Amino acid sequence: MTDPLAPGSALITGASSGIGAAFARALAARGYSVVLVARDGEALDEVAGSLGVPVRVVVADLTTHEGLDRVEAELDGVDLLVNNAGATTYGELGEQDPDDLEQSVLLNVLAPTRLTAAALRALPDGGGIVNVSSTAAGRDDPAIATYAAGKAYLETLSRAARQEGVEHRIRVTVVRPGRTCTAFHERSGEESGHLPAWRWQSPDTVAETALAAFERGEDEVTVAPG
Ligand SMILES: NC(=O)c1ccc[n+]([C@@H]2O[C@H](COP(=O)([O-])OP(=O)(O)OC[C@H]3O[C@@H](n4cnc5c(N)ncnc54)[C@H](OP(=O)(O)O)[C@@H]3O)[C@@H](O)[C@H]2O)c1
Repeated sequence: MTDPLAPGSALITGASSGIGAAFARALAARGYSVVLVARDGEALDEVAGSLGVPVRVVVADLTTHEGLDRVEAELDGVDLLVNNAGATTYGELGEQDPDDLEQSVLLNVLAPTRLTAAALRALPDGGGIVNVSSTAAGRDDPAIATYAAGKAYLETLSRAARQEGVEHRIRVTVVRPGRTCTAFHERSGEESGHLPAWRWQSPDTVAETALAAFERGEDEVTVAPG
């Protein structure tokens, strides 16, 4: 791709729901063909069916080596990678199931690390990477310790990747959403149903604001409710 703003092909992880599905809709509306990645094939098919552009569905668990190998291979021919898949458990570090802690690190740290590195090798000149962090990145909150630390890691990694990408005009934009109305909170076990509407934003707002920032060539964007 010679013009970084010309729509091409985008791979979105965590595209079966929430912010990832919103990225798929926003990129399809811009004329991108999309590769949608997540574990839930039925949910991915549902998102795919609504887009009206060429779609490839890749069912993969990003906490496994096999899943990561498969998704890395899918980056050939892609112009834009959106590292969006992520999850947290909610509860104090010392109380958590060790397997849950490991899954959190594999998904929030190892997966975007491997995919960012693979994208730097695979993307054409003028390509791009959008890494979805959080306003919780770096927060010293024991309830989300691995998640907040993992997002801080992702931001540091992204700054290094941005420098590495300069030679090939590969742009790296970090997106920091605040509280967004998706399945994320229920999945984490956080009790947030009592929070007022003004504390929430829509996943479409996040995806649209993130892509606008990417298109303007911005390094980072925070998208918070209110
Ligand atoms: N919602 C918020 O308030 C908020 C705020 C700040 C940042 N974020 C970030 O936004 C991103 C998207 O979250 P969301 O709010 O849209 O939550 P979500 O609706 O729960 O979406 C998470 C996505 O990640 C995928 N995923 C989870 N585990 C996976 C695995 N092992 N392998 C592959 N895919 C996996 C899920 O698909 P499957 O279950 O089908 O695999 C789903 O598509 C995350 O990185 C999150 O940290 C969210």
